[in-house]
Amino acid sequence: MWLKVVAACLVLWYVLKRFLEYRKNLPPGPFNIPLLGSWEFLRLWWTGGSLTEMYARLGDKYGPIIFMRHVLDAPIVTIRQYDTLKESGKDIRLNGSTVPYFFRLMSDFNNRGMSFSDGPKWHLNKKFAIATLGKLGFNKQRVMTMATNDCSSAVDKLLMKKGQPVNIEHELFGAITNVVMQVLMSRQFDIDDPVFKQLREDGVTLFGIAAKLKSPYDFAPWLAYIAGENSDARRLRRVMDRFAAFCNQVIEEHEATICPEEPRDYVDAYLASMATGKVSHMSKEDLRVGLKDMIVGGMEGPSVILGWLLLLTAEHQEIQARMVAEIEEVIGFDRSAVLDDEARCPYVRAVIVETMRYVALTPFHRHSVPHGATTFRGYYIPNGSIILEDVHSCNHDPAVFGDPETFRPERFLGERGEQLRKHEATFGFGPRMCPAIAYSYTVLFIFLVGLLQRLKLVLPEGAEPQSNRGAYNVGVRPTQPLLIALPR
Ligand code: HEM
Repeated sequence: MWLKVVAACLVLWYVLKRFLEYRKNLPPGPFNIPLLGSWEFLRLWWTGGSLTEMYARLGDKYGPIIFMRHVLDAPIVTIRQYDTLKESGKDIRLNGSTVPYFFRLMSDFNNRGMSFSDGPKWHLNKKFAIATLGKLGFNKQRVMTMATNDCSSAVDKLLMKKGQPVNIEHELFGAITNVVMQVLMSRQFDIDDPVFKQLREDGVTLFGIAAKLKSPYDFAPWLAYIAGENSDARRLRRVMDRFAAFCNQVIEEHEATICPEEPRDYVDAYLASMATGKVSHMSKEDLRVGLKDMIVGGMEGPSVILGWLLLLTAEHQEIQARMVAEIEEVIGFDRSAVLDDEARCPYVRAVIVETMRYVALTPFHRHSVPHGATTFRGYYIPNGSIILEDVHSCNHDPAVFGDPETFRPERFLGERGEQLRKHEATFGFGPRMCPAIAYSYTVLFIFLVGLLQRLKLVLPEGAEPQSNRGAYNVGVRPTQPLLIALPR
């Protein structure tokens, strides 16, 4: 009897809750089956289709703000197109992070670090990161020197392959990642170093698990305690433990050798700032988790984009020839690029920006609404909603780019060959934007120029053009990252 009363009360509570919510002005979207969520998500899960294409179809019907529910009615609001994304990017209430279970796990269940934290702690740690990286290694000339050295040894290694097809992303991963490792912790790794290999593998696992839209742990975190060894929760826990051990070791080594007046790298600068006692929301634990965030961001972004850049360069020989002509005229083949060269090579820069646009490394950025329901453009956005920024829709908007499926760097050049700023959103919007944008452009420029000065890049015979569609929130990797590097 009591069981029936409880069940009836639960059903009544559920119906009333839904009824009250539906009376509010939720954004438009397809029908949601109670508790199961939208049919669209179920179909996607069943057929394994593409989230990008699903939202392109729904966007035509419902406009730039779409409301759907996932399993157990979890609310998901998707925001599309440049203007709408730019506006929502500025609204801090739509840019939280701490709702999903995996995000909480990745911020140590304590709102630590940067990528998966929120509120004043996130704000102050991120502000510190941007300012400090600007002063230290992200100072352009220093980064250029480091990148030039790492690129030069990578070219030597590629030449030793004597025209054999190589997995370019793998070949260059160590060289481009070592630049950021030096800036963060003054360390360089051999590509075969087991510690480095493990960091890379763990970064990929972390991205893959974080990419899941919803997990059972969001509704019942206690499941993590009884989950099997191979469950996502346990795997992620192990990854986090390994990152913690690595970062703690780096921090301890720095503490033993630091000279606070002359910080060598990011870790030194953080410790020195903490030691002044004048800063709030900064602690060794926040440094540990924040360092993990920067290692993961610094390993994934530049290496995947560089792989794309070189493959697209090899696929489009006319674009490669035009870049080489610009490099020959501005820099020549006998010296490395210096600080001013970046601005004097607008075509090379345009190829980098077009690659970012064309590929949209993470086609969806995910944020949450953790601090109570809010509104956006008059629509009601429920508490706990996941906000999906559809970056692909922005980078491939025909109204802005005309022929978005064509790889055409000229779209970023003005009539006099000068570089144009257009609505390209690969680094995100507003307060959640990547803190390493200037760094990434500089490093990619140095590598591209350094490689093209000495190498001609071609695709192996019979190679198919790459697909630029990828899974949600995971670095869109080339399907066939093979190319041949010949001496120029
Ligand atoms: C081509 C290179 C890169 C690309 C395309 C890229 C892209 C992104 C994107 C899309 C975001 C998320 C924005 C959002 O959630 O709205 C992000 C955030 C972040 N990136 Fe990058 N990134 C790159 C390089 C780097 C590097 C080199 C570092 C570290 C030194 C880094 C560290 C971070 C961190 C810590 C965040 C979290 C910021 C926050 O949540 O406030 N990224 N990046």
